[in-house]
Amino acid sequence: MDQEITTQFRIQNLEARNEKAMEGGGAKRIAKHKQGNRLTARERLDILLDPGSFVETDRFVVHRCSNFDMENNRSPGDGVVTGYGRVNGKLVYVYSQDFTVIGGSMSRTQANKICKIMDLAVKNGAPVIGLNDSGGARIQEGVESLAGYADIFLRNTLASGVVPQITGIMGPCAGGAVYSPSITDFIFMVKDTSYMFVTGPDVIKTVTHEDVTKEELGGALTHSTKSGVAHFACDDDKQTLLMIRELMSFLPSNNLDDTPTLPTRDRPDRICEILNKLIPDNPKKPYDMLQLISEVVDEHYFLEVHKHFAGNIIVGFARLNGRSVGIVANQPQVLAGCLNIEASRKAARFIRFCDAFNIPIVSLVDVPGFLPGTDQEWSGLITHGAKLLYAYAEATVPKVTLITRKAYGGAYIVMGSKLLRSDINLAYPTAEIAVMGAEGAVNIIFREAIAKAKDPVAEKARLIKEYEEKFSNPYISAELGLTDEVIEPSLTRKRLIDAVEMLKNKRDVNPPKKHGNIPL
Ligand code: HXC
Repeated sequence: MDQEITTQFRIQNLEARNEKAMEGGGAKRIAKHKQGNRLTARERLDILLDPGSFVETDRFVVHRCSNFDMENNRSPGDGVVTGYGRVNGKLVYVYSQDFTVIGGSMSRTQANKICKIMDLAVKNGAPVIGLNDSGGARIQEGVESLAGYADIFLRNTLASGVVPQITGIMGPCAGGAVYSPSITDFIFMVKDTSYMFVTGPDVIKTVTHEDVTKEELGGALTHSTKSGVAHFACDDDKQTLLMIRELMSFLPSNNLDDTPTLPTRDRPDRICEILNKLIPDNPKKPYDMLQLISEVVDEHYFLEVHKHFAGNIIVGFARLNGRSVGIVANQPQVLAGCLNIEASRKAARFIRFCDAFNIPIVSLVDVPGFLPGTDQEWSGLITHGAKLLYAYAEATVPKVTLITRKAYGGAYIVMGSKLLRSDINLAYPTAEIAVMGAEGAVNIIFREAIAKAKDPVAEKARLIKEYEEKFSNPYISAELGLTDEVIEPSLTRKRLIDAVEMLKNKRDVNPPKKHGNIPL
């Protein structure tokens, strides 16, 4: 009997402790937090994870700091909820910072909790999803808190390319707190309530005398359009968490996992008649590459990454006959599809992610070249453009490329050409695979002849036509075996699926080395 009472008492004690842990920073702070249209750390996990799947770790951990009366300011969990659960049935490790507990600030013990689940994630080959909402290093702990950040950075780096790492920026993220997210593979930000910066507006005002708001400096729109730091900008907490779930459906659990495949009702041999009319007869006229993507992929569904940054290149995930693929495509509607610094950085990072995680890369090419100009050259177009070249060249996953129209010069080589180990290269009859466009070429090689001609305008037009007939087509490349097949556009879906499925068991390796030296 005594034993029963004791057990009952102990269970009640556990319940009381659990209840206390659920209170976070208390009702008052939670109410203030929610005024800003924000969910609590636990509510966020409820949306992120499959119902009932969350298992919490370290619920009762408290900090060990006694500076500044901190021993009287302890909450179970110490400002972060950690554990594991499922997204679409697949195991993930999670942490969710609780702003209501000392501003979610990073303590030594908070870092230990996060490191614990990161270690488990790597050992068990499952993604880590971090929901950040924190005032940064816990000021009262000084260097202990900095050491905690460093431990996380190290783990982020070692886990990179081993398990997918996803970050939701759900609130403030300042100082050193921005570097962990930026090592992760994808960053989601919430519009109006989240921001990221290394130094805040006050420091900027003191140092550079610039006036800037938090939102302008590091809000979701700034980072998803100007800097490219954020890959997704979502309307609110809920949408952010649902978008993370959506992204996860395209990703494998780790670098040794197969490419994820989901059942689809979309027929693999679906004819895309509309594509026979997509490419305008006038090569100077743009068209929407997104329309081509949407026509071709399963159920017309494309999850665009970095939608509002470097619009001249499109990257994102889709499925072809159920199999996840990464799509990289020039967008003729923006800067005529030219490659510039931002586009090169954006696509290179995406390609490296796909390559690390066994996701085939499908490239859709309509590229007149690299963007000319002093701004680009002086900002290092050579180095940044080389990132894209390097990423394509080193990638060993299945690579399938389709040239729809222009593929000129260096940009042709870079954008998934056969010369960089692409496996299957297709072209439309409208493809122009050449060193450069007809007009530019004629201006260079026939400058004197045109100047001497009786009617220079007519002579130039004649030479351009001659050049176009000779070079502006896919057949020279097909004759050289650099294009495997010239296809009717309506067959695009079928042919891309044929290629991706044929390459399902592709094995290719790079020479053994410690690591390459990508031009950073
Ligand atoms: C300790 C912190 C804290 C921090 C916030 N709090 N940030 N406690 N360390 N870094 C506490 C506040 O004292 C407050 O406690 C509670 O969290 C809520 O904060 P508020 O200021 O009331 O909230 P709000 O008005 O929404 O402002 C949020 C904020 C602001 C903008 C994030 O708190 C802020 O500026 N915090 C400091 C940011 C910062 O400079 N961090 C250090 C960065 S340096 P009470 O008890 O009142 O509720 C850094 C270096 C890392 O991170 C380097 C790693 C290599």
